Amino acid sequence: MHRIELKDGADLDGFRRALRGLVALGLEPGEVDWSGGAAPSLFGDAAPLPADAPPVSLPRAVGDLIGTVVCHRDPERYALLHRLVWRVVRGERDMLDHHADPLVHRLALLDKAVRRDLHKMHAFLRFNEVRDPANSESGGAERYVAWFEPDHFIVEATAPFFVERFESLVWTILTPVGSLHWDRRSLTIGPAAVKPEHLDRDDRFAEGWQRYYESTFNPARVNPTAMRAEMPRKYWANLPEAAAIPRMIRSAPARVQAMIEAEAAAPHRRNPDKAVAAMARQEPATLAELNRIILAADPLVPGARQAVLGEGPEGAAIAIVGEQPGDQEDVEGRPFVGPAGQLLTRALEEAGIERSTAYLTNAVKHFKFVARGKRRLHQSPTAGEVKHYRWWLMKELSFVRPRLVVTLGATAALALTGRSVPVLRERGPTGFGDWGGFVTVHPSYLLRLPAGEGVEQAYRDFVSDLRWARGMVESAG
Ligand code: URA
Repeated sequence: MHRIELKDGADLDGFRRALRGLVALGLEPGEVDWSGGAAPSLFGDAAPLPADAPPVSLPRAVGDLIGTVVCHRDPERYALLHRLVWRVVRGERDMLDHHADPLVHRLALLDKAVRRDLHKMHAFLRFNEVRDPANSESGGAERYVAWFEPDHFIVEATAPFFVERFESLVWTILTPVGSLHWDRRSLTIGPAAVKPEHLDRDDRFAEGWQRYYESTFNPARVNPTAMRAEMPRKYWANLPEAAAIPRMIRSAPARVQAMIEAEAAAPHRRNPDKAVAAMARQEPATLAELNRIILAADPLVPGARQAVLGEGPEGAAIAIVGEQPGDQEDVEGRPFVGPAGQLLTRALEEAGIERSTAYLTNAVKHFKFVARGKRRLHQSPTAGEVKHYRWWLMKELSFVRPRLVVTLGATAALALTGRSVPVLRERGPTGFGDWGGFVTVHPSYLLRLPAGEGVEQAYRDFVSDLRWARGMVESAG
């Protein structure tokens, strides 16, 4: 009997190595003891496995299944996988297609449980900001720590997800089955941890999540059973937004009633935004109608050649709001085609967001500039000008119905919130009334930074923000 000793948790490399040796020796599953541990085998130890056995050729689906199932807590997982591989190398290469086979069925259940656990960890892990003066990599500033209790040994398997999404932050993830530490350059996999007694919850980070969650919560569709199925109670303790759930559920009927009443009363009420809409003199019923109105309107500040409309599909999950068209946008009549737009397009791509799937627009629809000879120098819009265009923007977003609105820079944040927003301080998730929100910098800010080391980092931070925004949309389903 061959006893195989593997590391605690999910030892994928150890399992693969052992498998190569077992297949090379032609050892049947019945001759192998996968239970590990230091106690001597009842059956006596056999000769060691060859260390240089060649790789085993397996169908891709089998390789993928091994990758997930080794993460399961079931102590029989390695023995089951060995039985699978034994049969596959003996000719049953399409074995996974036989769903009624008891071994395949059992492995499929293990695979499903691990995938579900991975999904929960991706969706429900929340970082808490901690002050760490010793942390020189991040300028002695922020560090993020999260505590999570997965059901299975998935910590290592989740690492690429969190590194990709939070590449520009310094963070630590603690769990009872292992820990991860990322310092913006390298990942360290550490031992199991105990729950920290104190994780600072009252930071702006947690508040941002709460605002985001509350704004994406539709009281008319509240279904506590479905909510609990998707977000089981055991995760609530680590979710800042969970504090809002009972209150939101309790207030849902009243909020629905208020929505109905507001709808009924709308034509008779004086809405300050509608006063601005008087410039349109009509109520557009579609985005195309709204766009016709915008195109026909004169610029508030004369000079622009044309109004630049939003671009992208109605129903886009993410809407991105910039400041105003620049020189090139004014010439071409399309948003984000000049230098800042090109930088944005590159960052979106790196963040895994295809530009054509997002809706891109601006708070102000006309280019404002001063002429210097042949050059037209960009001028920031005033708060009054942003307000003037706000009704159009809100209407536009109500037709597009994004799940998340990302504001680039202070002008866009002002348009969405109605207040002056210190972008670097409030950067991150938030809520904009009916829409989930995310505040980040404008790409032209990156273009204006003085050349030096900080530029690359600032760009990486921007990409990381966009990835994070993508993650919010994905984890909201
Ligand atoms: N900057 C913006 O904010 N919007 C554009 O469309 C181009 C540059």
